[in-house]
Amino acid sequence: MYEFIQKLHSGWAYLALLLLVVAVLNALYGLISKKEFNATDRKIALFALIGTHTQLLIGLVIYFVSPLGFASLGNMSDKAIRLTSMEHPLINIIAIVLITVGWSKHKKLLTSESKFKTFTIFYTLGLILILSRIPWKLWL
Ligand code: HEM
Repeated sequence: MYEFIQKLHSGWAYLALLLLVVAVLNALYGLISKKEFNATDRKIALFALIGTHTQLLIGLVIYFVSPLGFASLGNMSDKAIRLTSMEHPLINIIAIVLITVGWSKHKKLLTSESKFKTFTIFYTLGLILILSRIPWKLWL
């Protein structure tokens, strides 16, 4: 069970990050080029939302089955353990909340510029937070 979930979380991270990077670049391009926000732009942002939400669900499962998650929460003096049991989960949850806020906000906005701007700000903040707390040594 642990090994399967660990591989899933590790593998899905590539997809979730790729979708998020594409959504950030697309939002930035839309903002700079002043193009109309269309159905494809909406889909790109939606796929990034779904990709990160799926990773959040897998993350919540792995948190309770991994020896490096909840089980190690008491061991805060070890930097690597602190990263996987506290910093990575907490910061990633905040990042995914920001991404979700960006998605919700864009629905209420009327102009293409404001939609692209909202995605650029919220998705970029989410991406930066996620990248700042990846356990790179475990992953690569
Ligand atoms: C978009 C969000 C996330 C991304 C991109 C992500 C990515 C990763 C990556 C790349 C690893 C290293 C995997 C490896 O060992 O090869 C990892 C490990 C881990 N993640 Fe996440 N993660 C995310 C969200 C979460 C969340 C929300 C939680 C918990 C609530 C979580 C809990 C963990 C734990 C406990 C580990 C260590 C697993 C182990 O090796 O035993 N992750 N994550």
